[in-house]
Order: sequence, then C-alpha cells, then structure tokens
Amino acid sequence: MSLCYLNGRYLPLGEASVSPMDRGFLFGDGAYEVIPVYSRRAFRLAEHVARLGNTLAALRLPDPHTADEWATIIREVIDRNPWDDQSVYLQVTRGADDKRNQAFPKVIRPTVFLMSEALVTPPDEQREAGVACVSAADFRWLRCDLKTVALLANCLLRQQAVDQGCMETILFRDGFLTEGAASNIFMVKNGVLLTPPKSHLMLPGITYDVVLEVAAHHRLPCEVREILEDEVRDADELWMTSSTKEVLPITTLDGRPVGTGRPGPVGRQMHVWYQDFKNTVMRSG
Ligand code: PDD
Repeated sequence: MSLCYLNGRYLPLGEASVSPMDRGFLFGDGAYEVIPVYSRRAFRLAEHVARLGNTLAALRLPDPHTADEWATIIREVIDRNPWDDQSVYLQVTRGADDKRNQAFPKVIRPTVFLMSEALVTPPDEQREAGVACVSAADFRWLRCDLKTVALLANCLLRQQAVDQGCMETILFRDGFLTEGAASNIFMVKNGVLLTPPKSHLMLPGITYDVVLEVAAHHRLPCEVREILEDEVRDADELWMTSSTKEVLPITTLDGRPVGTGRPGPVGRQMHVWYQDFKNTVMRSG
C-alpha cells in the first residue's frame, strides 16, 4: 500500500482518516496540486508550490508551509513510495470545525494531506491512434484559475466524455474555448499553434507553460489568444495537455474527425520535443 502524509505523520494510506467535519468534506473548501515526478524528481516543484500559494491566497487560507517545508514533505512522500515515476497529490483544506457553518472557523487548523501513485502516462498505442473527445458548455464558476478541491462541475463534465466512451470533454463558454474538464487544450491551424490566454476561466496549467516554452525554443509559430468554437471545430490538430496526460492528440470531436482524423505532424513533433525535454531537463534535474 502506498505511504501518505497527513498533518505531520507519514502512514499507510489505508490508515489515514480525517474528521467528517472537515470543510474539505463538507464544502469542498480546499486547494490541491498534482505534481508529476520523473526519476524521483518532482517536476517544476517551485511552480506547483507557487500555484498552490495563489489558490490558497484567493481562498483566504494561510499557507501552512513555507516553500522549503513543502519541498521536504514532498521529497519524503516520493522517497517513501516505491515508484521512480510518480504522481503526487497534495491537498490543503480549511480543516474541521465543531459545527457546520459556511463562514470560516475562528481558529483554523488546516488539514494537509499528500498521497502518491505510480505515474502512468498514455500508452504509445493511444498516442498513435489519438483520443476521442466530446464538447460541452462550460458551466463552472468564474474562478477556474484556482485549483480547488470543489470539482463537482469538472466531475460531471468529464463523466459526459466517459459515458460516450471518450477521453475528455472540451469546454466552450460564450462561444469560446476555455479548456478541458481536467486538461488544457491546444490547436494547430496552418502550422500555427494556438491556445487561449490565461484568465479566470481556465487553470494555468504547468504543462501548458512547458508546451509554450518548448514551442518558443524550437521557434514553432504560436498565438496565445481567444479561440472561437468554430475555429476548434475546423482545427488541423487538437491536443490535450496535463501533468499526467502530457501532450495527447485528439482525433475526433463529437464524433467528427479532427483534421485528417489521425494525429498530426505538429503534435508528433511536440511529443518528441516534450519527451526530449523530459529526459534531459526533468530527469536530470
Ligand atoms: N488536472 N485544467 C484543468 C481543469 C485541470 O484539472 C488540469 C490538471 C489542467 C492541466 O494542468 P497541469 O498541466 O498543471 O496538470 C488544466 C490534474 C492533473 C488533475 O486534477 O488530476
């Protein structure tokens, strides 16, 4: 069984428990991060800890740890689990109160929980075939830039894809692309890579940043701008990106082929660059 961290203790996951009065359980009142680990090195740790800090600040929840303390806890969790490549899950909630009350407790004792799983990235066959996606109206709240554990809307939207045998749900708000239910979305048109700009309406993905950096490094033409739903439906290539999916080509949207219906050349190239970056920069630190 994997080893987890709960409020200062390292223990088997099955032995960890929190109060049913925890505000994470009652209200979804907390922040989280998912940090990929390659060859036992946490990838872009400073950026993940900074994003956590931004979410906590917006939730008015004091960060219970300094960046150094987070690094130590994350290091321990990685070391105490068996896999070289891991996906570390980190969650901070506003803790338990003695009664259910939407307003914050007078004294806040946050609950800090980390666990880890083997990092399983998409298998080659899936990457070579591409994945099917559906689309839906983005009915989430207006602070999708915050990585909060209140993910019910994301769960409902993602399940729409699963119900139709698909991988992800691509979200449109007022006729514009926002992101996926659990990923960011990129498209390619006439050799140009396009993705929406960061805003309150999408999560600022760490993988999104890496893809844009890698693209800039290799001088791939890029446009970060608002993208109309019609443009997405007319894309030559579509990709989803996240810490666990990396860069995954989407080959059908709502049952219709994307471009040729096969993963495109720009996505193939990005996969090679991304793996190269991962194996040099990420694995070697
Ligand atoms: N999800 N947008 C949403 C809504 C997400 O949930 C995620 C990641 C991303 C991509 O962010 P990043 O590149 O930092 O992983 C974008 C994680 C993996 C999850 O909730 O499991």
